[in-house]
Amino acid sequence: MKYLLLVLGVVLTFRGYSQRCMVKETMPFFNEARKGVQTSSRDTLPGEVIIVPVVIHVLYNTNDQNIPDQHIIDQINSLNRDFRRKNADTVNTPAPFKSVAADSRIVFCIAKTDPDGKSTTGIIRKYTRVKAFFPDDQMKYSSKGGDDAWDASEYFNIWVCNLFGRTLGYSVMPGGNPALDGVVIQTNVFGNGPYLSAPFNKGRTLTHETGHWLGLKHLWGDSVCGSDGIDDTPPQEGSSTGCPDFPKTSSCSINPYGDMFMDFMDFTDDACMNMFSTGQVREMRSQFAKGGFRNSFLASTVCESSPVEEAPQVPPDGEVDLQMYPNPFATQLIIRGNNFDEVNGKAVRIYNVQGKLVQEITIQSQTTIVNTSQLPSGVYIAIFENANKRKIFKIVKAGYSGNR
Ligand code: ARG
Ligand code: ZN
Ligand code: CA
Repeated sequence: MKYLLLVLGVVLTFRGYSQRCMVKETMPFFNEARKGVQTSSRDTLPGEVIIVPVVIHVLYNTNDQNIPDQHIIDQINSLNRDFRRKNADTVNTPAPFKSVAADSRIVFCIAKTDPDGKSTTGIIRKYTRVKAFFPDDQMKYSSKGGDDAWDASEYFNIWVCNLFGRTLGYSVMPGGNPALDGVVIQTNVFGNGPYLSAPFNKGRTLTHETGHWLGLKHLWGDSVCGSDGIDDTPPQEGSSTGCPDFPKTSSCSINPYGDMFMDFMDFTDDACMNMFSTGQVREMRSQFAKGGFRNSFLASTVCESSPVEEAPQVPPDGEVDLQMYPNPFATQLIIRGNNFDEVNGKAVRIYNVQGKLVQEITIQSQTTIVNTSQLPSGVYIAIFENANKRKIFKIVKAGYSGNR
């Protein structure tokens, strides 16, 4: 809201690629210009697990490139383990770097609702006549043999396609043209499993590119002893490749521990990268804060029909005169149904982000005060349902959660 509705006529595109990895930096489009009416934004909460809905655009020229759903699920699970520092190889982080290795508390879910509000698998499969794409964004346009982006204020767009040459993937930085917003991953490094071949078989290309999508630079700042702007990643002369022995020092090392070559923002093999640092996590989370380029994701609800999908008959969404507040809430949540007949005797079910039912309330008066003191802090989905209408709320319990 602080920015005026200032639309820049000119978009400058820098193409400062390094040889292997490309990140395109663009002049910021102002977020507010993307949507006509901006709903009220909120800030991130300190311990909040931020949920990012994704849409996967699979572009195939050969049948092999039309990868099975399982590869996509493996890849998203792997991405989530990396972002939550739940990957089994965290044990390989060298001792001197363990104290700065961090859980980002950012998780990714495959979208359940498409931009028209219809149910979706979150996976789009499209035949393309293009045998190999150059990293020039053609895969992001249906008119060029690719597939158009879904609304980048609500969806993290991932294009999976055959990229020409040795490019494993590329990304934009936050704040660019919404039509190009997202990451592109080479088909044969997408997933995590025996169907891929070493050294790019553990899904880390997506982890790395997602780091860029959330504002991270390469550790060496793409110049000799350059800076990534993050204070707890040590300066390093250039990229690392393969699988170095610890410590790997360089001319600009400031201590004997040398390069953080096991960081996801270096160029080592998948088997040898295993961490984001606290400073990198701070940078990525700042994108979601009020005024940040990814702030709109805090209001995205496109993953949230998942719990209801198990119900045999899902009533359509409709206007129900029901409110739930405050949001974020603490030990009490108030449910108010102004039209009592519409809500009387009906249930509100609260689910956690894993889709597990954590609380069920039956409405018996216009105003219901729910004791929520037993709920751990975090994000919840509350669903009201009667015979013919449904209303879904994304609610947040404030406070710290998990490790501090
Ligand atoms: N954009 C980089 C490239 O194309 C990605 C490097 C990812 N590294 C990895 N181990 N998967 O080379
Ligand atoms: Zn990169
Ligand atoms: Ca640094």
